[in-house]
Amino acid sequence: MIKNLIDIESLSVDDIAQIYTRAQEFEKGIRKSNHINANVINMFFENSTRTKLSFEMAENKLNAHKYDFCAQTSSIQKGEELYDTINNLSAIGMDVFVMRHIENNLVKELSEKKYYKDIAFVNAGSGTNSHPTQALLDFYTMKKHFMNLSGKTITIVGDIAHSRVAKSNIALLKKTDMNIRCLAPENMMGEKIEGVSYFTNLKEAFEEADIVMALRIQRERIKECIDIEEYISKYQITKDNLPYAAFLMHPGPVNRNIEIQSDVLEMQNAKTILTQARNGVYVRMAILDIILASMGL
Ligand code: CP
Repeated sequence: MIKNLIDIESLSVDDIAQIYTRAQEFEKGIRKSNHINANVINMFFENSTRTKLSFEMAENKLNAHKYDFCAQTSSIQKGEELYDTINNLSAIGMDVFVMRHIENNLVKELSEKKYYKDIAFVNAGSGTNSHPTQALLDFYTMKKHFMNLSGKTITIVGDIAHSRVAKSNIALLKKTDMNIRCLAPENMMGEKIEGVSYFTNLKEAFEEADIVMALRIQRERIKECIDIEEYISKYQITKDNLPYAAFLMHPGPVNRNIEIQSDVLEMQNAKTILTQARNGVYVRMAILDIILASMGL
């Protein structure tokens, strides 16, 4: 039974299958859930469009009460520690805390503390290390398209080192029989993970790839100077280098003409990117539905 969603590593293959099936039921309209007694608060300490709004839509569709926490106008500005803020919000009646934060381990650490009453945490993106709901919606999108992912090859291309999306996707895809490749310049490769093949040459990395997952360069997390022109010349996805039948994915936001040539976004291959955004609602509904049910809400 899933009680919190902090990272992919804590999920079993059965948990992932349960989320997949439930998301499909929500998408097909064959499951309706009513969490009228649940109070869900969205606490985003970093910018977001897709994750925040799709959580809000999921909460509305589940008939939960949703609240938006604004750090800038909150009493955190008066020096209150986040732990104390959450404890007070739990006393007020909040049940689930959907949180995005710049620090890698903060959501996990907060989830391990004791509060006024039982509450649950959902990680909506933490630092450079974890974005589990993104990986789950990416998996949902791939599996719905291919049905059987066994033996399929995915090439993740871009700023792997600073990407929580890449790390959570790799953690999830390692639970499947897919071939996982990463393509990046050396300074964006990050720590190498067992079971993943690493490339610095685009032609080799794209050879026979079924799925190409592009990533944004996380400029806000990179201190050293980056040579964007060199990146574009070696790693930008173009009409010429994208394998003809490859399924092109991107978690968003896309920086047009940096990681992907603008024209490519109009190709059939790239239709997936908006499907990912749409699927985020069903997958987040499934996650919240499972957690709220486990809390008796
Ligand atoms: N993919 C993703 O996390 O997008 P947002 O930053 O817009 O939420």
